[in-house]
Amino acid sequence: MSNPVSATLRFDNKDYKLPVLTGSEGERAIDISKLRTESGAITYDDGFGNTGSCQSAITFIDGEAGILRYRGYPIDQLAEKSSFVETAYLVIYGELPTPDQRRDFSRRLSAHSRLREGMLRFIQNFPRDSHPMAVLSATFNALGAYYPHLASNNHQSDLEHFDEAAAIAISKVRTIAAHTYRVNNGLPFNYPRPNFGYCENFLHLMFSEPYNEYVPTAEVASALNLFLLLHADHEQNCSTSTVRMVASAGANLFASISAGVNALWGPLHGGANMAVIEMLQSIHDEGDDGTKFIAAAKAGKGERLMGFGHRVYKNYDPRAKIIKASFYKALGSLGIKDDPLLNIAMKLEEVALNDDYFVSRKLYPNVDFYSGLIMRALGIPLNMFTVMFAIGRMPGWIAQWREVAQNPKLKIYRPRQIYVGAPKRDFVPMERRG
Ligand code: CMC
Repeated sequence: MSNPVSATLRFDNKDYKLPVLTGSEGERAIDISKLRTESGAITYDDGFGNTGSCQSAITFIDGEAGILRYRGYPIDQLAEKSSFVETAYLVIYGELPTPDQRRDFSRRLSAHSRLREGMLRFIQNFPRDSHPMAVLSATFNALGAYYPHLASNNHQSDLEHFDEAAAIAISKVRTIAAHTYRVNNGLPFNYPRPNFGYCENFLHLMFSEPYNEYVPTAEVASALNLFLLLHADHEQNCSTSTVRMVASAGANLFASISAGVNALWGPLHGGANMAVIEMLQSIHDEGDDGTKFIAAAKAGKGERLMGFGHRVYKNYDPRAKIIKASFYKALGSLGIKDDPLLNIAMKLEEVALNDDYFVSRKLYPNVDFYSGLIMRALGIPLNMFTVMFAIGRMPGWIAQWREVAQNPKLKIYRPRQIYVGAPKRDFVPMERRG
């Protein structure tokens, strides 16, 4: 069957021909961008579940088939053969780097890993009980103040300095995150080491002490590497759409990312990995092995099974499969043999995958089911889990900002609404109110 080039909408006894767009993987979309001008009507799609907000060449997801690809490369191949830094380059620039490009990229990241003393003081001055996501968002915005030549709010000039701005964002996000952890725990800052890889450096910044340098094992560094790689992009999710929306107004990279960090902070988005651990802990504290919890979730009486189900994946989240395997290697290397929360997680997964309630609703483990357990095993505190997600998502936000900034036909994102408030009425003077 050949693809239709247009669709017809019959509305108010009139036919409207709407163009049909086809993506490179055969996805089809009906283009309604001229519908309002021609018919006076807008479309309505609460939560945007059925709306394509842009054309993008970065990430492809087929949720029914459990497929995720960055720039055409399957996630399992990248997870097996690539690293977070190389994948970041791929996501941002569209191609795998040549050896020279890879070296230059690493050099730029190393050159930008330190924070200026003023920024250190900025982080130090937040109260010790500040949420690390609040500090991350504020500090990212502050990057625009520290590097005004990279944050002109003129896409053309910001793009001329893009390589530097992108390297600053990827490199400094890890330093900001680790410094925030140190401040929150009353510990002195560590300085990045130019001879360490990206993940080793982050773990050193977090956990080294003046009297005891933290040197992660290869398995631990590789578990973190994989966690970050698997989060590098996920097409038009809430935080990414936020980054693109802010960018569409002409805002600079740092301001757009700062907005994305705030969106990710929401518990329905970046907070799920944390919710998984809280759920496992509460099951454990109640002396349940998961059986009662599952029964309550099915009956709609208890909480949902966190880390299960996904708006897009109606199959096993491909990231969950990959992260699960690496998790066991990291556990072995960390000497963790019998973690009661892990035992509960295994039980929940086994029961849910064989239970008609979950099977019929296509509820499979998502990436967060395991990523929280990995973070916990690495010693990352619960309130830093979403920050870890933000470090991983940085390449995606940067690439999506660039796609917006480079679009010659860019229009500011400006959805319509259906107004359901009060109809026109006349102003009531104070003495006649109440
Ligand atoms: N546990 C128990 N029942 C569930 C769950 C769950 N985790 N998720 C969905 N359901 C049920 C839901 O009650 C509904 O049942 P019924 O048809 O009888 O009313 C049915 O499944 C469909 O649910 P939905 O809410 O319409 O599905 P959705 O696609 O809107 O929600 C979701 C997706 C991720 C919000 C949801 O599955 C959920 O709340 N999961 C737990 C939270 C979680 O793990 N979130 C992380 C998502 S991955 C993050 C990322 O990729 O960025």
